[in-house]
Amino acid sequence: MGVGVVTVGRRSFLAGMGVLGVAGCGAEQAMADRSGEHQDGVVSPAQARTALVAFDVTASDRAGVGAALRAVAQPIPGATVTVAVGASLFDRRFGLTAPQRLVAMPAFRNDVLDPAWCHGDVLVQVGSDQSELIEAALARTVPGLEPRWRISGFHPDGQARNLFGFKEGAGNPAASDEGRHVWVHAGDDEPAWCVGGSYQVVRLFRLAMPIWDAESTARQERVFGRRKDDGAPLGRADEHDEPDYAGDPDGKVLPFDSHIRRANQGDKRILRRSHSYRRAADDVGQIFVSFQRDLDRFETIQQRLAGEALERYVLPFGGGYYFLLPGGDVTRGLLA
Ligand code: HEM
Repeated sequence: MGVGVVTVGRRSFLAGMGVLGVAGCGAEQAMADRSGEHQDGVVSPAQARTALVAFDVTASDRAGVGAALRAVAQPIPGATVTVAVGASLFDRRFGLTAPQRLVAMPAFRNDVLDPAWCHGDVLVQVGSDQSELIEAALARTVPGLEPRWRISGFHPDGQARNLFGFKEGAGNPAASDEGRHVWVHAGDDEPAWCVGGSYQVVRLFRLAMPIWDAESTARQERVFGRRKDDGAPLGRADEHDEPDYAGDPDGKVLPFDSHIRRANQGDKRILRRSHSYRRAADDVGQIFVSFQRDLDRFETIQQRLAGEALERYVLPFGGGYYFLLPGGDVTRGLLA
């Protein structure tokens, strides 16, 4: 590693992918049966495979929207289905009351967004340990909905490691603490129907594997601020030790541009549930998914990441902001 195997700049990496120059980002009973306060598939452990399908609504009235949402939320035995909606569903077409903080995902500094891979009125996530169910979910047609973009993801070797070889999850809130970081609560200055839901962020990253693989492990560890083998923060012994930023005021151990030092969250945390994707041998990446009680906490972190060392190795090309509907028959509140 690190012996000049490939010296590809980010620009030629992008050009090779054909993305330079693209600007801007561009069952009725079923839902009633989902009687809990929250949808499954958020705080439950991530499954081995996942499918994300974004749709646009072609139905012409509220009844059509309701039927489409109920159909798409239908449980699939052996899989977990979650349904979220995008800001565009709340345009003038249906006169629906939007979650207070839901906007279309903006383009961030490092982004080269492809409009064909962004946004959507509805986002369906299907998680399963069975590949066939994921394939079926990707191929599904639903009256009143037109697919906009779709992608499937996995955990390499069934582990919570990304394709850059690093463990993920240490900085997530503890299970006992997830609720207050993830769910919209009564009193959150949101429409009543939003309580029990969550803001879902999806960011699609292509990973520049040749550039990454050419780096030494020591360099890679300084990009994330964690050790590659066991995930411990640099300077500490164990994955679950807190990084010692106070003891490293000059950034000698944990560089200021390392991912975790930039992403350090304080008390307002997000819950990350990312997967990897592989669409071709030379087209692999990260499907970053996070759930949070409001979008501010995501955007605060995202803005601090601007200029981080990781930027050189990733290309954010798609995704969107969505609102994960509460559990139960959500269409009752949403379409009331
Ligand atoms: C390809 C893109 C990304 C990769 C490969 C990546 C990878 C990682 C890794 C390996 C960690 C350390 C282990 C952990 O805590 O899970 C981490 C931590 C973290 N990442 Fe990312 N990440 C990516 C993008 C993002 C984005 C877009 C955000 C949010 C804007 C984000 C937010 C965080 C946060 C909040 C932490 C925990 C920091 C802490 O409190 O220690 N990451 N990420």
